[in-house]
Amino acid sequence: MRILVLSDIHANWPALGAVISHEQDYDACLVVGDLVDYATGARNVIAWVRDHADGVIRGNHDHAVAQFIQPSEPASDFKLLRNETRNYHWDSLSQRDLNYLARLPLSLEIELDGLRFYLVHASPRDPLNEYLPNAPDVWEKRLKEIEADIVCVGHTHFPYICRLKQKQVLNPGSVGQPRDGDPRASYAIIENGEIQLKRIEYDIDKTIEQMTKAGLSDLAIQAASRILRSGSTEIPKN
Ligand SMILES: [Fe+2]
Repeated sequence: MRILVLSDIHANWPALGAVISHEQDYDACLVVGDLVDYATGARNVIAWVRDHADGVIRGNHDHAVAQFIQPSEPASDFKLLRNETRNYHWDSLSQRDLNYLARLPLSLEIELDGLRFYLVHASPRDPLNEYLPNAPDVWEKRLKEIEADIVCVGHTHFPYICRLKQKQVLNPGSVGQPRDGDPRASYAIIENGEIQLKRIEYDIDKTIEQMTKAGLSDLAIQAASRILRSGSTEIPKN
């Protein structure tokens, strides 16, 4: 069985498009949150995830969009981009799309191919917001009460496989806004229990063009271009 694991798509439809046209031959798909914010392809991303994912959970950005959390004053490229794309989502997403985001669970247990999966965007202690590194001692503590073979997380936009005594933690990285210095879309494939981290180039110009057409400001477009083309290594502070 071939399982596709995606996270932090962040409304980047060309990035998701590149992954799914390259990985057509999968049997199941898991999505670890943050479908929205930072780009303008949220409608296509939500529609695809709704139709194709076998398990999906809520990220902090899905929560903020669905609960109409007003963004704070922009003090960084990330916040400027988040604020403008969030307003664009509120103008363009349907009620059905917003309901979908609002009903996503904070965590999910699912069994596939004889493996027990546990999905949470950040961590079991703080499902939406805690930033945890690739540190086995920290994850051992956080996952003490969780029974699973593979724990899928996202949030940091930094891909890794962290091997613990009884389980593995997989962060597939970010499809739509990598932050490890490599601008290619990041994701994972699990085949016969083996996890592989994968990267694929996508048309960043197309993502920028769609954001320009959506009417984002020049400053937001410049911020998006800097972040996406560099695979920014910054972590935005909320
Ligand atoms: Fe994210």
